Amino acid sequence: RPGKIRRTLRWTWRLTYLTFGGLLGYTAWVIYEDRHPQDQVKPDPSKKTLVVLGTGWGSVALLKNLDTENYNVIVVSPRNFFLFTPLLPSCTTGLIEHRSIMEPIRAILRHKKGSVQYYEAEATTIDPERKVVKVADNSEVKGSIAENEIHYDMLVVGVGAENSTFGIPGVRENSCFLKEIDDAQRIRKKIMDCVETAAFKDQSQEDIDRLMHMVVVGGGPTGVEFAGELQDFFEEDIKKLIPEISPRFKVTLIEALPNVLPSFSKQLIEYTENTLREEKIDIKLKTMVKRVTENTVEAEVSRPDGTKERLTIPYGLLVWATGNTIRPIIKDLISRIPAQANSRRGLAVNEYLVVQGARDIWAVGDCAVAGYAPTAQVASQEGTFLARLFNNMAKTESHEARITELSTSLNVQPGNAAETAQEIESLERQLKKIRDVKPFRYSHQGSMAYIGSEKAVADVTWWNGNIASGGSLTFLFWRSAYLSMCFSTRNRVLVIVDWLKSKAFGRDVSRE
Ligand code: FAD
Ligand code: NAI
Repeated sequence: RPGKIRRTLRWTWRLTYLTFGGLLGYTAWVIYEDRHPQDQVKPDPSKKTLVVLGTGWGSVALLKNLDTENYNVIVVSPRNFFLFTPLLPSCTTGLIEHRSIMEPIRAILRHKKGSVQYYEAEATTIDPERKVVKVADNSEVKGSIAENEIHYDMLVVGVGAENSTFGIPGVRENSCFLKEIDDAQRIRKKIMDCVETAAFKDQSQEDIDRLMHMVVVGGGPTGVEFAGELQDFFEEDIKKLIPEISPRFKVTLIEALPNVLPSFSKQLIEYTENTLREEKIDIKLKTMVKRVTENTVEAEVSRPDGTKERLTIPYGLLVWATGNTIRPIIKDLISRIPAQANSRRGLAVNEYLVVQGARDIWAVGDCAVAGYAPTAQVASQEGTFLARLFNNMAKTESHEARITELSTSLNVQPGNAAETAQEIESLERQLKKIRDVKPFRYSHQGSMAYIGSEKAVADVTWWNGNIASGGSLTFLFWRSAYLSMCFSTRNRVLVIVDWLKSKAFGRDVSRE
Protein backbone atom coordinates (compact mmCIF):
# COMPACT_ATOMS: atom_id res chain seq x y z
CA ARG A 1 0.00 0.00 0.00
CA PRO A 2 2.79 2.54 0.86
CA GLY A 3 4.34 1.61 -2.50
CA LYS A 4 1.06 2.46 -4.25
CA ILE A 5 0.89 5.83 -2.49
CA ARG A 6 4.51 6.52 -3.46
CA ARG A 7 3.74 5.63 -7.10
CA THR A 8 0.66 7.88 -7.12
CA LEU A 9 2.66 10.76 -5.64
CA ARG A 10 5.42 10.24 -8.18
CA TRP A 11 2.90 10.39 -11.03
CA THR A 12 1.22 13.46 -9.55
CA TRP A 13 4.61 15.19 -9.43
CA ARG A 14 5.40 14.17 -12.98
CA LEU A 15 2.04 15.49 -14.20
CA THR A 16 2.54 18.75 -12.31
CA TYR A 17 6.02 19.16 -13.84
CA LEU A 18 4.65 18.41 -17.29
CA THR A 19 1.77 20.89 -16.91
CA PHE A 20 4.05 23.67 -15.63
CA GLY A 21 6.68 22.84 -18.20
CA GLY A 22 4.03 22.92 -20.93
CA LEU A 23 2.67 26.24 -19.68
CA LEU A 24 6.14 27.77 -19.45
CA GLY A 25 7.01 26.48 -22.91
CA TYR A 26 3.76 27.88 -24.33
CA THR A 27 4.35 31.29 -22.68
CA ALA A 28 7.91 31.37 -24.00
CA TRP A 29 6.66 30.46 -27.48
CA VAL A 30 3.96 33.20 -27.36
CA ILE A 31 6.55 35.79 -26.28
CA TYR A 32 9.01 34.60 -28.95
CA GLU A 33 6.32 34.77 -31.66
CA ASP A 34 5.32 38.21 -30.44
CA ARG A 35 8.90 39.49 -30.53
CA HIS A 36 9.77 37.81 -33.85
CA PRO A 37 6.94 38.45 -36.29
CA GLN A 38 7.27 37.31 -39.90
CA ASP A 39 8.78 39.74 -42.37
CA GLN A 40 6.12 41.70 -44.15
CA VAL A 41 5.82 41.46 -47.89
CA LYS A 42 5.79 44.27 -50.44
CA PRO A 43 2.44 45.44 -51.88
CA ASP A 44 1.12 43.06 -54.55
CA PRO A 45 -0.06 45.00 -57.64
CA SER A 46 -2.67 42.30 -58.39
CA LYS A 47 -4.47 43.06 -55.11
CA LYS A 48 -6.76 45.97 -54.28
CA THR A 49 -5.49 48.80 -52.08
CA LEU A 50 -7.55 49.18 -48.93
CA VAL A 51 -6.92 52.46 -47.13
CA VAL A 52 -8.05 52.72 -43.49
CA LEU A 53 -8.24 56.16 -41.85
CA GLY A 54 -7.87 56.25 -38.06
CA THR A 55 -6.52 54.00 -35.33
CA GLY A 56 -9.49 54.16 -32.96
CA TRP A 57 -12.07 51.60 -31.92
CA GLY A 58 -13.66 51.16 -35.36
CA SER A 59 -10.51 50.97 -37.48
CA VAL A 60 -8.58 48.77 -35.06
CA ALA A 61 -11.46 46.28 -34.74
CA LEU A 62 -11.48 46.10 -38.55
CA LEU A 63 -7.70 45.61 -38.75
CA LYS A 64 -7.70 43.01 -36.00
CA ASN A 65 -10.27 40.83 -37.76
CA LEU A 66 -9.33 41.48 -41.38
CA ASP A 67 -7.53 38.84 -43.39
CA THR A 68 -4.91 41.32 -44.57
CA GLU A 69 -3.43 38.85 -47.06
CA ASN A 70 -6.31 39.66 -49.41
CA TYR A 71 -5.47 43.37 -49.80
CA ASN A 72 -2.61 45.87 -49.82
CA VAL A 73 -3.55 47.64 -46.62
CA ILE A 74 -2.53 51.22 -45.83
CA VAL A 75 -3.40 52.74 -42.45
CA VAL A 76 -3.28 56.52 -41.99
CA SER A 77 -3.67 58.21 -38.62
CA PRO A 78 -1.99 61.07 -36.75
CA ARG A 79 -2.14 58.90 -33.61
CA ASN A 80 0.28 55.98 -33.79
CA PHE A 81 -1.51 54.01 -31.08
CA PHE A 82 -4.87 52.62 -30.13
CA LEU A 83 -6.37 54.26 -27.04
CA PHE A 84 -8.60 52.38 -24.62
CA THR A 85 -10.91 55.35 -23.93
CA PRO A 86 -13.08 53.80 -21.15
CA LEU A 87 -10.17 54.13 -18.71
CA LEU A 88 -9.09 57.60 -19.89
CA PRO A 89 -10.83 59.44 -17.00
CA SER A 90 -8.63 57.42 -14.58
CA CYS A 91 -5.51 58.86 -16.27
CA THR A 92 -6.49 62.43 -15.36
CA THR A 93 -5.70 61.80 -11.71
CA GLY A 94 -2.83 59.36 -12.14
CA LEU A 95 -4.84 56.37 -10.91
CA ILE A 96 -3.76 54.75 -14.18
CA GLU A 97 -0.64 55.80 -16.08
CA HIS A 98 -1.42 56.86 -19.63
CA ARG A 99 0.86 54.33 -21.35
CA SER A 100 -1.05 51.49 -19.72
CA ILE A 101 -4.06 52.13 -21.96
CA MET A 102 -2.14 52.77 -25.19
CA GLU A 103 -1.20 50.05 -27.68
CA PRO A 104 1.23 51.02 -30.46
CA ILE A 105 -0.39 50.55 -33.86
CA ARG A 106 2.90 49.25 -35.28
CA ALA A 107 2.88 46.44 -32.70
CA ILE A 108 -0.66 45.55 -33.80
CA LEU A 109 0.05 45.72 -37.55
CA ARG A 110 3.43 43.97 -37.38
CA HIS A 111 1.67 40.66 -36.75
CA LYS A 112 -0.65 40.91 -39.73
CA LYS A 113 0.08 38.89 -42.86
CA GLY A 114 0.45 40.39 -46.33
CA SER A 115 1.36 43.99 -47.02
CA VAL A 116 0.25 46.38 -44.26
CA GLN A 117 1.71 49.89 -44.16
CA TYR A 118 1.20 52.64 -41.64
CA TYR A 119 1.69 56.38 -42.16
CA GLU A 120 1.58 58.76 -39.19
CA ALA A 121 -0.33 61.52 -40.91
CA GLU A 122 -3.64 63.29 -40.95
CA ALA A 123 -5.97 62.74 -43.87
CA THR A 124 -6.91 66.25 -44.96
CA THR A 125 -9.16 65.62 -47.98
CA ILE A 126 -10.91 62.66 -49.55
CA ASP A 127 -11.53 62.97 -53.27
CA PRO A 128 -14.14 60.35 -54.16
CA GLU A 129 -13.94 61.18 -57.88
CA ARG A 130 -10.19 60.50 -58.22
CA LYS A 131 -10.21 57.92 -55.41
CA VAL A 132 -7.38 59.58 -53.54
CA VAL A 133 -6.81 60.71 -49.97
CA LYS A 134 -4.61 63.72 -49.35
CA VAL A 135 -2.44 63.25 -46.29
CA ALA A 136 -0.29 65.64 -44.29
CA ASP A 137 2.45 65.06 -41.74
CA ASN A 138 1.48 67.53 -39.04
CA SER A 139 3.98 66.27 -36.49
CA GLU A 140 6.72 68.51 -35.08
CA VAL A 141 9.49 66.84 -37.08
CA LYS A 142 9.14 67.14 -40.83
CA GLY A 143 11.13 65.88 -43.79
CA SER A 144 11.26 67.36 -47.28
CA ILE A 145 7.80 65.92 -48.01
CA ALA A 146 5.05 66.84 -45.57
CA GLU A 147 2.06 66.29 -47.87
CA ASN A 148 1.18 63.51 -50.25
CA GLU A 149 -1.64 61.61 -51.95
CA ILE A 150 -2.65 57.99 -51.49
CA HIS A 151 -4.73 56.18 -54.07
CA TYR A 152 -7.36 53.73 -52.85
CA ASP A 153 -9.54 51.04 -54.39
CA MET A 154 -11.47 50.74 -51.14
CA LEU A 155 -11.55 53.28 -48.31
CA VAL A 156 -12.68 52.92 -44.71
CA VAL A 157 -13.20 56.17 -42.81
CA GLY A 158 -12.87 55.77 -39.04
CA VAL A 159 -11.64 59.21 -37.96
CA GLY A 160 -13.96 59.58 -34.95
CA ALA A 161 -15.32 62.95 -33.88
CA GLU A 162 -14.21 66.22 -32.29
CA ASN A 163 -15.29 67.85 -29.05
CA SER A 164 -18.39 69.95 -29.46
CA THR A 165 -18.39 73.48 -28.03
CA PHE A 166 -21.62 74.70 -29.71
CA GLY A 167 -19.68 77.85 -30.58
CA ILE A 168 -19.89 79.02 -26.96
CA PRO A 169 -17.41 81.89 -26.54
CA GLY A 170 -14.27 81.19 -24.56
CA VAL A 171 -14.60 77.40 -24.41
CA ARG A 172 -11.75 76.48 -26.79
CA GLU A 173 -9.37 79.00 -25.25
CA ASN A 174 -9.99 78.30 -21.57
CA SER A 175 -11.14 74.74 -20.98
CA CYS A 176 -9.64 71.27 -21.09
CA PHE A 177 -11.32 68.50 -23.09
CA LEU A 178 -11.21 64.81 -22.31
CA LYS A 179 -10.90 62.81 -25.51
CA GLU A 180 -7.25 62.07 -26.18
CA ILE A 181 -4.27 61.07 -24.06
CA ASP A 182 -2.83 64.63 -24.25
CA ASP A 183 -6.08 65.95 -22.78
CA ALA A 184 -5.79 63.62 -19.78
CA GLN A 185 -2.17 64.65 -19.22
CA ARG A 186 -3.07 68.34 -19.49
CA ILE A 187 -5.83 67.90 -16.90
CA ARG A 188 -3.51 65.98 -14.55
CA LYS A 189 -0.96 68.79 -14.69
CA LYS A 190 -3.58 71.50 -14.30
CA ILE A 191 -5.16 69.89 -11.23
CA MET A 192 -1.80 69.84 -9.46
CA ASP A 193 -0.96 73.35 -10.68
CA CYS A 194 -4.22 74.66 -9.20
CA VAL A 195 -3.64 72.83 -5.91
CA GLU A 196 0.01 73.92 -5.57
CA THR A 197 -0.83 77.53 -6.47
CA ALA A 198 -3.66 77.53 -3.94
CA ALA A 199 -1.18 76.27 -1.33
CA PHE A 200 1.34 79.04 -2.15
CA LYS A 201 2.52 81.12 0.82
CA ASP A 202 -0.05 83.77 1.81
CA GLN A 203 -2.30 83.03 -1.17
CA SER A 204 -5.46 85.18 -1.04
CA GLN A 205 -8.61 83.48 0.26
CA GLU A 206 -10.48 84.43 -2.89
CA ASP A 207 -7.85 82.79 -5.08
CA ILE A 208 -7.72 79.65 -2.93
CA ASP A 209 -11.49 79.25 -3.38
CA ARG A 210 -11.28 79.81 -7.12
CA LEU A 211 -8.24 77.57 -7.70
CA MET A 212 -9.68 74.72 -5.65
CA HIS A 213 -12.95 74.87 -7.57
CA MET A 214 -12.99 72.25 -10.35
CA VAL A 215 -15.88 72.71 -12.77
CA VAL A 216 -17.08 69.99 -15.16
CA VAL A 217 -19.52 70.95 -17.92
CA GLY A 218 -21.66 68.12 -19.33
CA GLY A 219 -23.40 65.46 -17.25
CA GLY A 220 -22.98 62.68 -19.83
CA PRO A 221 -20.82 59.64 -18.99
CA THR A 222 -17.54 61.52 -19.63
CA GLY A 223 -18.42 64.37 -17.24
CA VAL A 224 -19.81 62.07 -14.53
CA GLU A 225 -16.85 59.65 -14.64
CA PHE A 226 -14.34 62.48 -14.53
CA ALA A 227 -16.11 64.22 -11.62
CA GLY A 228 -16.11 60.91 -9.71
CA GLU A 229 -12.40 60.29 -10.36
CA LEU A 230 -11.55 63.85 -9.33
CA GLN A 231 -13.43 63.62 -6.03
CA ASP A 232 -11.70 60.25 -5.31
CA PHE A 233 -8.30 61.84 -5.98
CA PHE A 234 -9.09 64.57 -3.53
CA GLU A 235 -10.45 62.27 -0.80
CA GLU A 236 -7.77 59.59 -1.13
CA ASP A 237 -4.65 61.66 -1.77
CA ILE A 238 -4.80 65.48 -1.89
CA LYS A 239 -6.60 65.72 1.43
CA LYS A 240 -3.82 63.72 3.11
CA LEU A 241 -0.94 65.47 1.38
CA ILE A 242 -2.10 69.10 1.62
CA PRO A 243 -4.59 69.14 4.52
CA GLU A 244 -4.34 72.92 5.10
CA ILE A 245 -6.30 73.84 1.97
CA SER A 246 -8.40 70.71 1.61
CA PRO A 247 -11.67 72.14 3.05
CA ARG A 248 -11.77 74.51 0.06
CA PHE A 249 -11.69 71.79 -2.60
CA LYS A 250 -14.96 71.54 -4.52
CA VAL A 251 -16.19 69.81 -7.67
CA THR A 252 -19.20 71.23 -9.54
CA LEU A 253 -20.92 69.32 -12.34
CA ILE A 254 -23.03 71.48 -14.68
CA GLU A 255 -25.68 69.89 -16.91
CA ALA A 256 -28.19 71.65 -19.18
CA LEU A 257 -30.81 68.88 -18.93
CA PRO A 258 -32.92 68.08 -15.83
CA ASN A 259 -30.72 65.05 -15.04
CA VAL A 260 -27.27 63.54 -15.57
CA LEU A 261 -26.57 60.38 -17.62
CA PRO A 262 -29.63 60.82 -19.89
CA SER A 263 -29.01 57.50 -21.67
CA PHE A 264 -29.28 55.43 -18.45
CA SER A 265 -32.45 54.08 -16.80
CA LYS A 266 -34.38 56.31 -14.40
CA GLN A 267 -33.43 54.43 -11.24
CA LEU A 268 -29.71 54.58 -12.12
CA ILE A 269 -29.95 58.31 -12.83
CA GLU A 270 -31.43 58.82 -9.38
CA TYR A 271 -28.81 56.55 -7.79
CA THR A 272 -26.00 58.39 -9.59
CA GLU A 273 -27.24 61.84 -8.57
CA ASN A 274 -27.64 60.76 -4.93
CA THR A 275 -24.19 59.16 -4.87
CA LEU A 276 -22.55 62.22 -6.41
CA ARG A 277 -24.25 64.45 -3.83
CA GLU A 278 -23.09 62.13 -1.01
CA GLU A 279 -19.57 62.50 -2.38
CA LYS A 280 -20.10 66.29 -1.97
CA ILE A 281 -20.10 66.98 -5.70
CA ASP A 282 -22.29 70.00 -6.40
CA ILE A 283 -24.65 69.10 -9.28
CA LYS A 284 -26.22 72.03 -11.09
CA LEU A 285 -28.99 70.73 -13.32
CA LYS A 286 -31.01 72.71 -15.90
CA THR A 287 -27.98 74.97 -16.09
CA MET A 288 -26.69 75.93 -19.51
CA VAL A 289 -23.21 77.40 -19.84
CA LYS A 290 -23.32 80.43 -22.12
CA ARG A 291 -19.86 81.92 -21.88
CA VAL A 292 -16.46 81.08 -20.48
CA THR A 293 -13.74 83.52 -19.45
CA GLU A 294 -10.22 82.88 -18.15
CA ASN A 295 -11.42 82.48 -14.56
CA THR A 296 -15.21 82.20 -14.69
CA VAL A 297 -18.07 80.25 -16.23
CA GLU A 298 -21.25 82.15 -17.01
CA ALA A 299 -24.35 79.99 -16.97
CA GLU A 300 -28.12 80.34 -17.14
CA VAL A 301 -30.25 78.36 -14.69
CA SER A 302 -33.89 77.56 -15.50
CA ARG A 303 -35.94 77.87 -12.30
CA PRO A 304 -39.09 75.73 -11.69
CA ASP A 305 -41.31 78.83 -12.13
CA GLY A 306 -39.94 79.29 -15.66
CA THR A 307 -37.69 82.23 -14.84
CA LYS A 308 -34.02 82.25 -15.75
CA GLU A 309 -31.14 83.28 -13.54
CA ARG A 310 -27.62 84.18 -14.61
CA LEU A 311 -24.74 82.66 -12.57
CA THR A 312 -21.06 83.54 -12.62
CA ILE A 313 -18.93 80.69 -11.29
CA PRO A 314 -15.20 81.18 -10.65
CA TYR A 315 -13.05 78.13 -11.43
CA GLY A 316 -9.47 76.87 -11.27
CA LEU A 317 -9.90 73.95 -13.68
CA LEU A 318 -12.65 73.70 -16.27
CA VAL A 319 -13.30 70.42 -18.09
CA TRP A 320 -15.63 70.60 -21.06
CA ALA A 321 -17.47 67.33 -21.82
CA THR A 322 -20.53 68.18 -23.88
CA GLY A 323 -20.29 65.46 -26.52
CA ASN A 324 -19.19 65.19 -30.14
CA THR A 325 -19.23 67.14 -33.36
CA ILE A 326 -17.97 66.18 -36.84
CA ARG A 327 -14.39 66.63 -38.00
CA PRO A 328 -13.51 69.04 -40.86
CA ILE A 329 -12.47 66.15 -43.18
CA ILE A 330 -15.95 64.62 -42.79
CA LYS A 331 -17.63 67.98 -43.35
CA ASP A 332 -15.60 68.36 -46.54
CA LEU A 333 -16.45 64.85 -47.77
CA ILE A 334 -20.16 65.46 -47.09
CA SER A 335 -19.98 68.60 -49.25
CA ARG A 336 -18.54 66.54 -52.14
CA ILE A 337 -21.33 63.92 -52.14
CA PRO A 338 -24.76 65.25 -53.20
CA ALA A 339 -26.57 62.33 -51.47
CA GLN A 340 -25.10 63.49 -48.13
CA ALA A 341 -26.62 66.98 -48.40
CA ASN A 342 -28.75 66.42 -45.26
CA SER A 343 -26.02 64.82 -43.15
CA ARG A 344 -25.31 66.93 -40.07
CA ARG A 345 -23.88 64.58 -37.46
CA GLY A 346 -21.63 62.48 -39.70
CA LEU A 347 -21.54 60.36 -42.85
CA ALA A 348 -24.88 58.68 -43.49
CA VAL A 349 -24.21 54.98 -44.15
CA ASN A 350 -26.46 52.13 -45.29
CA GLU A 351 -26.89 48.82 -43.44
CA TYR A 352 -23.60 47.55 -44.92
CA LEU A 353 -21.85 50.73 -43.65
CA VAL A 354 -21.32 51.98 -47.22
CA VAL A 355 -21.25 55.78 -47.32
CA GLN A 356 -24.45 56.72 -49.10
CA GLY A 357 -23.89 58.25 -52.51
CA ALA A 358 -20.23 57.17 -52.69
CA ARG A 359 -18.53 54.21 -54.35
CA ASP A 360 -16.04 52.01 -52.46
CA ILE A 361 -16.15 54.13 -49.28
CA TRP A 362 -17.27 52.72 -45.93
CA ALA A 363 -17.47 54.52 -42.58
CA VAL A 364 -17.31 53.22 -39.00
CA GLY A 365 -17.60 54.63 -35.49
CA ASP A 366 -18.30 58.17 -34.35
CA CYS A 367 -17.93 59.68 -37.84
CA ALA A 368 -20.68 57.43 -39.26
CA VAL A 369 -24.40 57.83 -38.75
CA ALA A 370 -25.92 54.35 -38.70
CA GLY A 371 -28.64 55.06 -36.13
CA TYR A 372 -26.64 54.11 -33.03
CA ALA A 373 -25.01 56.07 -30.17
CA PRO A 374 -21.39 57.18 -30.66
CA THR A 375 -19.80 54.56 -28.42
CA ALA A 376 -16.78 52.26 -28.49
CA GLN A 377 -19.12 49.28 -28.45
CA VAL A 378 -20.82 50.38 -31.66
CA ALA A 379 -17.55 51.37 -33.38
CA SER A 380 -15.91 48.08 -32.51
CA GLN A 381 -18.86 45.98 -33.73
CA GLU A 382 -18.96 48.00 -36.96
CA GLY A 383 -15.23 47.42 -37.53
CA THR A 384 -15.61 43.69 -36.92
CA PHE A 385 -18.57 43.57 -39.31
CA LEU A 386 -16.59 45.30 -42.06
CA ALA A 387 -13.69 42.87 -41.61
CA ARG A 388 -16.10 39.95 -42.13
CA LEU A 389 -17.61 41.69 -45.15
CA PHE A 390 -14.21 42.35 -46.74
CA ASN A 391 -12.99 38.81 -46.00
CA ASN A 392 -16.12 37.51 -47.74
CA MET A 393 -15.70 39.87 -50.68
CA ALA A 394 -12.14 38.63 -51.20
CA LYS A 395 -13.25 34.99 -50.97
CA THR A 396 -16.06 35.68 -53.46
CA GLU A 397 -13.61 37.17 -55.94
CA SER A 398 -11.15 34.29 -55.61
CA HIS A 399 -13.95 31.68 -55.96
CA GLU A 400 -15.35 33.46 -59.03
CA ALA A 401 -11.90 33.59 -60.61
CA ARG A 402 -11.40 29.86 -59.93
CA ILE A 403 -14.82 29.03 -61.43
CA THR A 404 -13.95 30.99 -64.59
CA GLU A 405 -10.59 29.19 -64.76
CA LEU A 406 -12.21 25.76 -64.31
CA SER A 407 -14.95 26.52 -66.85
CA THR A 408 -12.30 27.43 -69.43
CA SER A 409 -10.32 24.26 -68.68
CA LEU A 410 -13.52 22.23 -69.22
CA ASN A 411 -13.38 23.17 -72.90
CA VAL A 412 -9.62 22.62 -73.19
CA GLN A 413 -9.35 19.31 -71.26
CA PRO A 414 -12.70 17.53 -71.55
CA GLY A 415 -11.08 14.36 -70.09
CA ASN A 416 -11.43 15.66 -66.50
CA ALA A 417 -14.96 16.97 -67.09
CA ALA A 418 -16.68 15.09 -64.23
CA GLU A 419 -14.08 16.12 -61.62
CA THR A 420 -14.01 19.73 -62.81
CA ALA A 421 -17.81 19.98 -62.85
CA GLN A 422 -17.86 18.64 -59.29
CA GLU A 423 -15.36 21.27 -58.15
CA ILE A 424 -17.33 24.04 -59.88
CA GLU A 425 -20.51 22.86 -58.18
CA SER A 426 -18.84 22.83 -54.76
CA LEU A 427 -17.40 26.32 -55.31
CA GLU A 428 -20.80 27.63 -56.37
CA ARG A 429 -22.36 26.18 -53.21
CA GLN A 430 -19.70 27.88 -51.09
CA LEU A 431 -20.20 31.12 -53.02
CA LYS A 432 -23.90 31.13 -52.27
CA LYS A 433 -23.15 30.89 -48.53
CA ILE A 434 -20.42 33.56 -48.67
CA ARG A 435 -22.59 36.02 -50.59
CA ASP A 436 -25.37 35.70 -48.04
CA VAL A 437 -23.94 38.39 -45.70
CA LYS A 438 -26.57 39.78 -43.37
CA PRO A 439 -26.66 43.58 -42.91
CA PHE A 440 -24.99 45.12 -39.86
CA ARG A 441 -27.04 44.88 -36.71
CA TYR A 442 -25.73 46.32 -33.45
CA SER A 443 -26.00 44.08 -30.41
CA HIS A 444 -26.18 46.24 -27.29
CA GLN A 445 -24.37 44.63 -24.36
CA GLY A 446 -25.28 47.42 -21.93
CA SER A 447 -23.86 50.68 -20.58
CA MET A 448 -21.62 51.22 -17.58
CA ALA A 449 -20.17 54.25 -15.85
CA TYR A 450 -17.92 54.85 -12.86
CA ILE A 451 -19.45 57.35 -10.43
CA GLY A 452 -16.74 57.71 -7.76
CA SER A 453 -16.06 56.27 -4.27
CA GLU A 454 -15.61 52.80 -5.77
CA LYS A 455 -19.16 52.67 -7.09
CA ALA A 456 -20.41 52.21 -10.64
CA VAL A 457 -23.73 51.97 -12.45
CA ALA A 458 -24.57 49.41 -15.12
CA ASP A 459 -27.53 48.90 -17.42
CA VAL A 460 -26.73 45.44 -18.72
CA THR A 461 -28.64 43.46 -21.34
CA TRP A 462 -29.24 39.91 -20.12
CA TRP A 463 -31.36 37.23 -21.85
CA ASN A 464 -33.38 39.78 -23.83
CA GLY A 465 -34.02 41.70 -20.61
CA ASN A 466 -32.25 44.51 -18.80
CA ILE A 467 -30.56 44.50 -15.41
CA ALA A 468 -29.94 47.87 -13.78
CA SER A 469 -27.51 47.89 -10.88
CA GLY A 470 -25.38 50.36 -8.99
CA GLY A 471 -22.90 50.20 -6.11
CA SER A 472 -19.68 48.55 -5.01
CA LEU A 473 -20.38 45.13 -6.56
CA THR A 474 -21.17 46.86 -9.84
CA PHE A 475 -17.83 48.63 -9.48
CA LEU A 476 -16.06 45.26 -9.31
CA PHE A 477 -18.05 44.14 -12.36
CA TRP A 478 -17.12 47.42 -14.13
CA ARG A 479 -13.42 46.90 -13.38
CA SER A 480 -13.37 43.25 -14.48
CA ALA A 481 -15.39 44.00 -17.63
CA TYR A 482 -13.06 46.80 -18.73
CA LEU A 483 -9.99 44.82 -17.75
CA SER A 484 -11.11 41.96 -19.98
CA MET A 485 -11.79 44.43 -22.81
CA CYS A 486 -8.28 45.99 -22.70
CA PHE A 487 -6.53 45.56 -26.03
CA SER A 488 -3.65 43.30 -24.99
CA THR A 489 -2.33 41.22 -22.10
CA ARG A 490 0.38 43.88 -21.70
CA ASN A 491 -2.32 46.56 -21.19
CA ARG A 492 -4.16 44.32 -18.71
CA VAL A 493 -1.05 43.68 -16.63
CA LEU A 494 -0.10 47.38 -16.61
CA VAL A 495 -3.62 48.46 -15.56
CA ILE A 496 -3.71 45.93 -12.69
CA VAL A 497 -0.26 47.08 -11.53
CA ASP A 498 -1.42 50.73 -11.65
CA TRP A 499 -4.51 49.95 -9.58
CA LEU A 500 -2.45 48.08 -6.98
CA LYS A 501 0.25 50.76 -6.94
CA SER A 502 -2.27 53.57 -6.38
CA LYS A 503 -4.01 51.59 -3.64
CA ALA A 504 -0.75 50.84 -1.83
CA PHE A 505 1.23 54.07 -2.30
CA GLY A 506 -1.37 56.63 -3.41
CA ARG A 507 -1.46 58.47 -6.72
CA ASP A 508 1.70 60.16 -7.94
CA VAL A 509 1.10 63.90 -7.48
CA SER A 510 4.39 65.08 -9.02
CA ARG A 511 3.80 67.49 -11.88
CA GLU A 512 5.80 66.65 -15.03
P1 FAD B 1 -11.81 57.13 -32.15
O1 FAD B 1 -11.62 55.99 -31.21
O2 FAD B 1 -11.95 58.50 -31.59
O3 FAD B 1 -10.60 57.11 -33.17
C1 FAD B 1 -10.48 58.02 -34.22
C2 FAD B 1 -9.13 57.82 -34.85
O4 FAD B 1 -9.03 58.61 -36.03
C3 FAD B 1 -7.97 58.25 -33.96
O5 FAD B 1 -6.93 57.34 -34.10
C4 FAD B 1 -7.59 59.60 -34.52
O6 FAD B 1 -6.24 59.94 -34.27
C5 FAD B 1 -7.83 59.35 -35.99
N1 FAD B 1 -8.02 60.56 -36.79
C6 FAD B 1 -8.58 61.73 -36.44
N2 FAD B 1 -8.57 62.59 -37.47
C7 FAD B 1 -7.99 61.94 -38.50
C8 FAD B 1 -7.68 62.30 -39.84
N3 FAD B 1 -7.97 63.51 -40.32
N4 FAD B 1 -7.06 61.40 -40.63
C9 FAD B 1 -6.75 60.16 -40.14
N5 FAD B 1 -7.02 59.77 -38.89
C10 FAD B 1 -7.65 60.65 -38.08
N6 FAD B 1 -17.64 54.19 -25.28
C11 FAD B 1 -18.08 53.04 -24.73
O7 FAD B 1 -18.75 52.27 -25.43
N7 FAD B 1 -17.80 52.72 -23.44
C12 FAD B 1 -17.06 53.52 -22.65
O8 FAD B 1 -16.83 53.22 -21.48
C13 FAD B 1 -16.56 54.73 -23.19
N8 FAD B 1 -15.83 55.56 -22.43
C14 FAD B 1 -15.36 56.72 -22.98
C15 FAD B 1 -14.60 57.57 -22.18
C16 FAD B 1 -14.13 58.77 -22.70
C17 FAD B 1 -13.34 59.68 -21.84
C18 FAD B 1 -14.41 59.12 -24.05
C19 FAD B 1 -13.90 60.39 -24.62
C20 FAD B 1 -15.17 58.28 -24.83
C21 FAD B 1 -15.66 57.07 -24.30
N9 FAD B 1 -16.42 56.21 -25.07
C22 FAD B 1 -16.88 55.03 -24.53
C23 FAD B 1 -16.75 56.55 -26.46
C24 FAD B 1 -15.75 55.89 -27.40
O9 FAD B 1 -14.43 56.18 -27.02
C25 FAD B 1 -15.94 56.38 -28.83
O10 FAD B 1 -17.26 56.17 -29.22
C26 FAD B 1 -15.00 55.61 -29.75
O11 FAD B 1 -13.67 55.99 -29.47
C27 FAD B 1 -15.31 55.87 -31.22
O12 FAD B 1 -14.43 55.11 -31.98
P2 FAD B 1 -13.93 55.63 -33.41
O13 FAD B 1 -13.09 54.56 -33.97
O14 FAD B 1 -15.06 56.13 -34.20
O15 FAD B 1 -13.06 56.93 -33.08
P1 NAI C 1 -22.82 63.28 -24.10
O1 NAI C 1 -23.30 63.80 -25.39
O2 NAI C 1 -23.23 61.93 -23.67
O3 NAI C 1 -23.25 64.29 -22.93
C1 NAI C 1 -23.00 65.67 -23.00
C2 NAI C 1 -23.88 66.39 -22.01
O4 NAI C 1 -23.53 67.76 -22.00
C3 NAI C 1 -25.36 66.30 -22.37
O5 NAI C 1 -26.06 65.72 -21.30
C4 NAI C 1 -25.75 67.75 -22.63
O6 NAI C 1 -27.05 68.05 -22.18
C5 NAI C 1 -24.71 68.53 -21.84
N1 NAI C 1 -24.49 69.88 -22.36
C6 NAI C 1 -24.34 70.25 -23.65
N2 NAI C 1 -24.13 71.58 -23.74
C7 NAI C 1 -24.13 72.07 -22.49
C8 NAI C 1 -23.96 73.37 -21.94
N3 NAI C 1 -23.73 74.44 -22.70
N4 NAI C 1 -24.04 73.52 -20.60
C9 NAI C 1 -24.26 72.45 -19.81
N5 NAI C 1 -24.42 71.20 -20.28
C10 NAI C 1 -24.35 71.00 -21.60
O7 NAI C 1 -21.22 63.44 -24.13
P2 NAI C 1 -20.08 62.57 -23.48
O8 NAI C 1 -20.32 62.31 -22.06
O9 NAI C 1 -18.81 63.25 -23.84
O10 NAI C 1 -20.16 61.19 -24.27
C11 NAI C 1 -19.94 61.13 -25.68
C12 NAI C 1 -20.24 59.72 -26.16
O11 NAI C 1 -19.31 58.81 -25.60
C13 NAI C 1 -21.63 59.26 -25.74
O12 NAI C 1 -22.19 58.48 -26.75
C14 NAI C 1 -21.35 58.38 -24.54
O13 NAI C 1 -22.30 57.36 -24.40
C15 NAI C 1 -19.98 57.81 -24.85
N6 NAI C 1 -19.29 57.57 -23.59
C16 NAI C 1 -19.61 56.42 -22.91
C17 NAI C 1 -19.06 56.17 -21.68
C18 NAI C 1 -19.47 54.95 -20.95
O14 NAI C 1 -20.20 54.14 -21.49
N7 NAI C 1 -19.04 54.77 -19.71
C19 NAI C 1 -18.07 57.08 -21.08
C20 NAI C 1 -17.83 58.27 -21.87
C21 NAI C 1 -18.43 58.48 -23.08
